[in-house]
Amino acid sequence: MTFIIREAIAADIPALAHLHVKTWNATYPDVQKKPTYEIRERQWREAFEGTDGSWFCFVVEGPNGELVGFAKGTPYEHLDLPGFAGELSKIYLLREYQRESLGRRVVCHVVRRFVSQGICSMVLFADPQNPSCRFYEALGAERLLDKAANFHGGYGWRDLRSLAAMCPTEWVSGCWILSGRCGMIARRPRRDVGCGILQTSADP
Ligand SMILES: CC(C)(COP(=O)(O)OP(=O)(O)OC[C@H]1O[C@@H](n2cnc3c(N)ncnc32)[C@H](O)[C@@H]1OP(=O)(O)O)[C@@H](O)C(=O)NCCC(=O)NCCS
Repeated sequence: MTFIIREAIAADIPALAHLHVKTWNATYPDVQKKPTYEIRERQWREAFEGTDGSWFCFVVEGPNGELVGFAKGTPYEHLDLPGFAGELSKIYLLREYQRESLGRRVVCHVVRRFVSQGICSMVLFADPQNPSCRFYEALGAERLLDKAANFHGGYGWRDLRSLAAMCPTEWVSGCWILSGRCGMIARRPRRDVGCGILQTSADP
């Protein structure tokens, strides 16, 4: 199975909005009032219209060219956490493509982009009950506590270079081909296109 991770473009807006609705609804089934397709479409359209180069989004294309996941990065400029400069503001994969290392690979793209922008720290805010918290912890994120030492779902990497070090070069530079199940990288990097090609035995 082949996946491509590439930068999102404006033409992706309808597919991205559909994917955002589907993945968000699956992640938060108990939320009563869920954002509709129209809301997500408008949010993405406004984001692309107002682009100043400060945010970016990577999408994961599945075997038939359909979008199966995405991650968005933005600068983090709030005073509450002055030690952090970037935010992983969204990361979602369709359920049938989870736990196949795609999340790790998308994060590697986000980290590489931040580092290339001179942004060497990253924060994100999750629901503390969300299983994705285990994902961030597996990637070495630090739990961010409030003054009373309570955890509210905030995670941070104070030095993205340590996270970048967990990203094999093949995952983030040029293309890679990955055969078999997660983590078995066939060393056949391609230089002809700037994207990632991933082959796994996943059976979605
Ligand atoms: C969170 C998400 C992006 C992670 O991507 P993924 O491709 O599933 O994760 P990976 O396969 O790269 O996992 C890497 C490691 O993280 C840990 N991990 C990931 N998901 C986990 C889970 N649900 N429970 C426990 N550990 C988990 C594991 O250690 C895993 O390694 P392993 O599979 O070898 O054990 C994806 O699961 C997802 O889209 N979830 C639903 C949406 C969501 O919750 N988004 C975050 C909102 S804040």
